[in-house]
Amino acid sequence: MNKSFYITTPIYYVNDDPHIGTAYTTILADVLSRYQVQLGNDSFFLTGLDEHGQKVQEAATKRGLNPKDHCDEMSKSFISLWDRLHISNNDFIRTTEDRHKVVVEKILKTVYDAGDIYEDEYEGLYSVAEERFITEKEADSGQFGNIKKLKEKNYFFKMSKYQKSLIDHIKSNPMFLQPEHRKNEILGFLNKPLNDLCISRPKSRLNWGIELPFDSDYVTYVWFDALINYITAPGFLNNKTLFDKYWPASMHLIGKDILTTHAVYWPTMLMSAGIELPKTIFAHGWWLMEDEKMSKSTGNVINPMDLIDEYGVDPVRYYLMREMVLGQDANFTIKSFINRYNSDLANDFGNLLSRVSTLINKNYDGEIPELSSLSSYDKKVEDSSKEAVQNFDNYMSNMAINDAIEEALQFVRSINKYFEHSAPWKVVKEDKELAGTILYTGAEALRISAVLLSPIMPEKTKKLFQVLNTDSRDRKWGGAEIWD
Ligand code: MSP
Repeated sequence: MNKSFYITTPIYYVNDDPHIGTAYTTILADVLSRYQVQLGNDSFFLTGLDEHGQKVQEAATKRGLNPKDHCDEMSKSFISLWDRLHISNNDFIRTTEDRHKVVVEKILKTVYDAGDIYEDEYEGLYSVAEERFITEKEADSGQFGNIKKLKEKNYFFKMSKYQKSLIDHIKSNPMFLQPEHRKNEILGFLNKPLNDLCISRPKSRLNWGIELPFDSDYVTYVWFDALINYITAPGFLNNKTLFDKYWPASMHLIGKDILTTHAVYWPTMLMSAGIELPKTIFAHGWWLMEDEKMSKSTGNVINPMDLIDEYGVDPVRYYLMREMVLGQDANFTIKSFINRYNSDLANDFGNLLSRVSTLINKNYDGEIPELSSLSSYDKKVEDSSKEAVQNFDNYMSNMAINDAIEEALQFVRSINKYFEHSAPWKVVKEDKELAGTILYTGAEALRISAVLLSPIMPEKTKKLFQVLNTDSRDRKWGGAEIWD
């Protein structure tokens, strides 16, 4: 039976153009979603935009636009980048959409009716950049630029009420927070008393948000609003069948900087609203440039469009997936990008493809030849294809995507060796049947390696399937016997 798989990316703030950091999570989600589809599962892949809150309002003001026009304009650059990167998302959510507002209102009412929202006057230090009150200790850390002293009446969510249940949940569901070191980080954080969460902003200070259903002088705190997108899209309020099929989400993919909001705010909100928790929250590391986080302010942003213009989409996807060990930070350098491009893609993969296609076209009228009796080396290639598929799957299920890719590439290299050893271009002159068998073996191995790599490089592998004249995405040896 097909399994349901629901994967999400963070929804991106529209105060900035997309860059390699934000493109990364979206490509990763795309790879995982395409992989699930290949396994025969039903995948629902969601990405979108976080359009409310102070940062967006400020960005709009700076450009002399009203926030809605600013968002509409910015959304286009995200959508066009995702198109170009061959992102196969099933839905694209924007938090300014009506379908989302009604769900946020519903959740706020439910949490309010459960007695989990209270009013309080609060005086404290407020970080403008983070859009939240911060502790003295945080203020002293020097990490928060613009800090103001503020006294305000606000609404608070009783997050502390769910602290114990959350700890229990994390401990009894080992897959809930991944990787392991992030889980420990959150458990450490939950060792200390948990503060309640301020979930409102007075309109006098910020009006770009969803109005609280129980007090029209306030809008909802942007994170309380944004996290809810994950249930809006699969139809929490308007499509019970779809919602039951995909919720709880299989995986929320996030960057390590937004771990607390996902691993603490979101699950406690869901607990209060009586909704099941997502199965896995997976936090990846950052892309660094010369060991610094890539960001607009440091001016070290790589524009993915530029790289794509020069090298094509798939090499960029390949590099990002191959080079980052999930969970750790990775360094982006043009030098290593070009190395990967030349060695893995042009040399190993490209070389094999051109060898196979030249042979087929020159000697067999573009048709993969019939198989005759197999030598022990041919048989070894068949066996190693099975092993490669199995290892690939094991790595993928452990989120070791870089290792999975390396496994596929090692298989490609072994096929190249097989060709060098069997030399079908020589054999074909004396024994066309034997050369045909070698070619069949090489082509079938190449097809399987392309099937494995197709979630990562959908375009390049599509071309390869065309050259091999097959539609088969069967991962089994001989799956393309119906070559015609
Ligand atoms: N809007 C919130 C998310 C709300 S989800 C309910 C947000 N948006 S963001 O646009 O600032 O960042 C989105 C994601 O991009 C984060 O997961 C962040 O880690 C990721 N990245 C931003 N820069 C990055 C790198 N340099 N490297 C890898 N990922 C990075 O936070």
